Amino acid sequence: MIICHCHAVNDRQIKEAIAHGIDSVRGLNRELNVGNTCGQCLPQVRRVLESTLMQIAEPSPKKVA
Ligand code: FES
Repeated sequence: MIICHCHAVNDRQIKEAIAHGIDSVRGLNRELNVGNTCGQCLPQVRRVLESTLMQIAEPSPKKVA
């Protein structure tokens, strides 16, 4: 799903950048240019960032065999 229409950045690209260590909107802004033009994508960028960081911090519980 396209998140930033000005720079054609989708949620997968944002998640990949986060997986490679970016942990802030500013970092995503530098890496992918999201929010650099109209800024309308910033609330959604922030939501993707927060939910992805939560998933990394709290991975789903592993099944005990
Ligand atoms: S939609 Fe992202 S800067 Fe315009």
